[in-house]
Amino acid sequence: MLGIETSCDETAAAVVRGGREVLSNVIASQDDLHAEYRGVVPEIASRAHAERLLPIVRRAISEAGVSTADLSAVAVGNRPGLIGCLLVGVAAAKALAWGLELPVVGVDHVHAHLTAGLLLSAGTKLESLDESSLYPALGLIVSGGHTSMYVCETTTRLRRLGGTIDDALGEAYDKVAAILGLEFPGGPRVDRLAAANTHLAREPESQGADGRSGFPIARIAPESLDFSFSGLKTAALYAYRGVPETARSRMKREARGEPEPERWSAEEIAASFQRAAVRTVELKLERALERHPECRAVLVGGGVSANSALRSMLVDLSQRRGLMLRLPEMAYCLDNAAMIAAMGHDVLMERGWRGDDWTMTATPTTGS
Ligand code: KG4
Ligand code: ZN
Repeated sequence: MLGIETSCDETAAAVVRGGREVLSNVIASQDDLHAEYRGVVPEIASRAHAERLLPIVRRAISEAGVSTADLSAVAVGNRPGLIGCLLVGVAAAKALAWGLELPVVGVDHVHAHLTAGLLLSAGTKLESLDESSLYPALGLIVSGGHTSMYVCETTTRLRRLGGTIDDALGEAYDKVAAILGLEFPGGPRVDRLAAANTHLAREPESQGADGRSGFPIARIAPESLDFSFSGLKTAALYAYRGVPETARSRMKREARGEPEPERWSAEEIAASFQRAAVRTVELKLERALERHPECRAVLVGGGVSANSALRSMLVDLSQRRGLMLRLPEMAYCLDNAAMIAAMGHDVLMERGWRGDDWTMTATPTTGS
């Protein structure tokens, strides 16, 4: 199965055997093209995909040690994402499938992230993973564009439990990185700064001996399985730059004899932000597991599943609750085409290897 991924700023192609064994996984990151804008510029991204995709596909096929004659289908992430970017991948996938007389299948990029923990690097025995024992599983996606939880009956049968009502977790990481003046994409940089300064982390919501409090955890409502990270991001902004004051509120504060609230250091903010962000995800996972005790495993995917603190929280949580955990290898956390091929394989298996028809196209939104 050839997988193609162009939904955002990674141009990727992969060849996967049997839906799980990754024979090649080629990714061309565009970080250098977008760094000066501190975010992905859609037009630059789609042009770069158009230039890079075919050489990347060729490389994926040759690194897999196969030829086009060995391929049995083409899968492409056709939703959600930046429309100009998705269209490049979809056009290429359809053209290749048409030319090679293969079925083509469009898959949901966000759902495909959940297969990342099931992928096996080439050479690993397929039998080493008894996948059926994992289901039903609780699925967590934490990426730059999405943060959501699902109950998964299989990789293709998902019931959405909740998702972010504002910023995605990766987006909040990137924005906090920008506040702190770290380079784009900032998530991994905030992670590194936080990990090196765990001793400075303020416990979320707690009031320190000095009267200074940690960052907030957004519960939203007692039963809610949704996420919110914009309040946490704003708290980090105010901690770094100071709380905005009107002339009136400043006068009042000065009349009370109170000093200006102290600014936190970048290290303290990174460590405290990471502590609060991970605790928020843990709290929502706990809530979801209370509600769905039938879940036997936790499946995780998306760029933030590379986060050091999130990974150790997930290990602790699943041990505590006696759950199996499928943490993706680092190579499969960020956007990649191996997960697209895996998901395409599962969709085709379910349909008796019947592909989409040629009207299949890109859509910027996801179904769920
Ligand atoms: O899944 P992904 O590659 O793209 C989307 O589908 O959105 O995720 C990218 C996101 C970015 O926001 C990036 O900053 C974040 O994942 N990220 C991290 C880490 N590595 C990547 N966030 C926190 N800690 C990390 N180690
Ligand atoms: Zn993604």
